[in-house]
Amino acid sequence: EAAEKGGFEHFMLKEIYEQPKALRDTMTSRLDAAAKTIGFPELNWTAEELREINKIFIVACGTAYHAGIVGKYYLEQLARVPVEVDIASEFRYRDPLVDGNSLTIVISQSGETSDTLAALREAKRLGSRTLAVTNVVGSSIAREADQVVYTYAGPEIAVASTKAYTTQLLAMLMLAIYVGRLRGSMSAEREQELVRGLTFVPEQIHKMLENVDQIKVFAREYGSSEDAFFLGRSLDYAVALEGALKLKEISYIHAEAYAAGELKHGTLALIVSGVPVIVLATQMDVYDKTVSNLQEVKAREAVVIAIGFEGDTSLEKYADHVIYIPRTDKYLAPLMAVLPLQLLAYYAALTRGCDVDKPRNLAKSVTVE
Ligand code: G6P
Repeated sequence: EAAEKGGFEHFMLKEIYEQPKALRDTMTSRLDAAAKTIGFPELNWTAEELREINKIFIVACGTAYHAGIVGKYYLEQLARVPVEVDIASEFRYRDPLVDGNSLTIVISQSGETSDTLAALREAKRLGSRTLAVTNVVGSSIAREADQVVYTYAGPEIAVASTKAYTTQLLAMLMLAIYVGRLRGSMSAEREQELVRGLTFVPEQIHKMLENVDQIKVFAREYGSSEDAFFLGRSLDYAVALEGALKLKEISYIHAEAYAAGELKHGTLALIVSGVPVIVLATQMDVYDKTVSNLQEVKAREAVVIAIGFEGDTSLEKYADHVIYIPRTDKYLAPLMAVLPLQLLAYYAALTRGCDVDKPRNLAKSVTVE
């Protein structure tokens, strides 16, 4: 097993460090770096068929569900199709309004999650077109969906998903760009800009992973907390959900993510002196509002760790600590903003002596209902 871990103490850490490669492998066959366009040679839907789709359902469990929430922002904003995101165990029993003009995208690392598979079958029964985004070639979900987009994260062993998640985000972003172009909702310039940005991401992540000392310090300092909160707006909110899940899963710290604007509708009551609050501030269109929420928690003496773009030193005025990520396009920010959250969870779990790769009560793949 030590050999399989390739010198890392845990599979989770190894998999966090494999993200540059996983992303590169997932983008290579779909990205024309010279022309700066996205293509999916494996998909055989015509532009006409894609234009007929009037509603997209994204269905998944756990971390894959969180990738689905990011996917909703991508598909609605870039492809201009209304999207609903459902937890698979809810979708399969809620009599969803799916029909022949719907596309149901199921996301699953393993391709074997029982609820996701059942949701896929239900979508098919209702006449929806179906697409699987999965990491396992030939898995049940891959076999049963009409079309498959594989993520090429490689085997993921740690129960807590990391590299599968970032490749799912990438797959959803590339799909949104592709569908957006075929439906005529995205300009060639915007596509080129995003593709150019994407080509830098693996190297940017590689660099981020070379410098994680600050995160280790935070994990030691706040690892004994019993609660933590994650706040963000827009795509930052979607990433916050995944950050909270990571922390819960492996460190057993009670963690909750909130849309920052919801704070005053309840959560603020829980913000007391010394409680760690991680605030994501990478989405510039809602930046001022996020910063004002940050100030609200700070006023209640929370310990605020902000995550923002390199050069955004103004965050230091409001937050106790700032973790910087490389400056990038707003749609690419989730791919990088989740990294410090994965590492925080990992090092917090280590500090607390938890079994990082095999957290209590959890399984890598849930094949029973
Ligand atoms: C389990 C795992 C999670 C995973 C979820 C969905 O709960 O512990 O890490 O996100 O299943 O799995 P899937 O294979 O469908 O992505």
